[in-house]
Amino acid sequence: MPENKFDVVIIGGGPGGYVAAERAGEKGKKTLLIDEDKNLGGVCLNRGCIPTKALLHSAKIFHSSQNSQDFGVRVSKAEYDIKKAMDWKNKVVSILTKGVAYQMKRHHVNVLTGHAHIIDKNTISVNKEIYRTDNIIIATGSSPSQLPIPGVDKPHVLTSNEMLMIEKLPKTLVIIGGGVIGLEFASYFSLLGVSVTVLEMLPEILPGFDQDISLFLKKEINTCNFKTEAMATKIDDKNVYFVKDGSEERIPADMVLIAVGRTPNVSNIGLEKNNIDFDRNGIKVNEKMQTNLPGVYAVGDVTGKSLLAHSAYRMAEVAVNVMFGEEDHMRYQAIPWVVYTNPELSRVGLTENEAIKQGRKIKVKSLQMRVNGRFLSEHSKENGICKIIVDSESDVLLGVNILGGVNSEIIYGAAAMIEAELRVKDIKEIMFPHPTVSEIIRDVIWEL
Ligand code: NAI
Repeated sequence: MPENKFDVVIIGGGPGGYVAAERAGEKGKKTLLIDEDKNLGGVCLNRGCIPTKALLHSAKIFHSSQNSQDFGVRVSKAEYDIKKAMDWKNKVVSILTKGVAYQMKRHHVNVLTGHAHIIDKNTISVNKEIYRTDNIIIATGSSPSQLPIPGVDKPHVLTSNEMLMIEKLPKTLVIIGGGVIGLEFASYFSLLGVSVTVLEMLPEILPGFDQDISLFLKKEINTCNFKTEAMATKIDDKNVYFVKDGSEERIPADMVLIAVGRTPNVSNIGLEKNNIDFDRNGIKVNEKMQTNLPGVYAVGDVTGKSLLAHSAYRMAEVAVNVMFGEEDHMRYQAIPWVVYTNPELSRVGLTENEAIKQGRKIKVKSLQMRVNGRFLSEHSKENGICKIIVDSESDVLLGVNILGGVNSEIIYGAAAMIEAELRVKDIKEIMFPHPTVSEIIRDVIWEL
């Protein structure tokens, strides 16, 4: 094969792109991965999932050390050093981005730094060089959505990108948007004693989750001030203005975070010129991750289908399998969601609302987390809930929500049950390790 000719060229080195490259490399295919950033890993590794987890962990340690008396531990004075916390975060990110680069080497993936442009379905240009390919995967990700209100360009108004590089904690923080990103930052800053207000324009935070769960979470994040049905309208040097119940109110803020969604990166990659079907919600793909242009695939956030790193991984595997002749397709019914708040929240499958909207007959049961031995041993004041939804005709598990405990490590088990379409009767026969938080699933199942 000529030097500049590839089996597959992948645009974007985030979770969708680097996993696609790894899988294609594993298959022995000649692979080229292109990213503008010399640090691979995309938003997830550099400005999203990983750095936020490193920081959140530091805030949890700080908070625990201040609240350890109930467990017989007295700490004289805990201090939070944001510079050191940022050093820790940077160290974690650096190790992991190097790890991705190593994986690329291990799988003989060629990596290029530069902006890729699709000339036609078999030709890509990068840094004025031309590369030929049989297949293209677009994995250009997404960026924070803009909020079109006056004042968003002020220096104290940040997106999640800049938030991960601050050198000093604010005294007062207003977060516009009560979705996943807004709530994760709200948890982080409120654990550190920052006065945090979340403005959410909808009737409840976390749209897409059942309202009883969102309400429970709001109650548990009790260090934070929530204003729902509050539409942010303007920001000046000292305040954020919002409209609630028809009248304008304001709230002081020395820092503002805009977290009103993410927008797929569809510009300036050659979609229009090649008539690749897309709109502002992303590039259109079928269940095989194929675009309307044969040989061109799209995976991850840029498709707008599921803006989660683990969805991107799976989409990448589907695209690579399909392009090299294996039967595969993307399924969306068992994608786990984790919201890394304190307490954390995870869910998989249908919410109660979604199940009702689908016209299903359902059974729903919940238990408070304080009935669980492991949870109770480790939490003196906090509570949580596990809520399960089952189809009452077939008895098949439809949805699981867990709030409280380290549920992010458990939810994949529920995802496997939903993917396998297990019935209540099947789940009753599974042995859960004791004592673990995971047993709450078994306990709720036995209540059904
Ligand atoms: P989001 O769509 O989850 O939430 C944005 C919120 O902002 C919505 O509730 C919306 O009603 C509100 N909003 C919009 N304009 C407003 C205004 N003018 N005033 C007040 N509220 C307003 O978006 P978010 O949180 O930015 O996250 C983007 C995506 O990133 C998510 O869809 C998620 O897929 C992904 N993500 C996932 C994470 C995870 O799985 N742990 C973590 C971070 C991001």
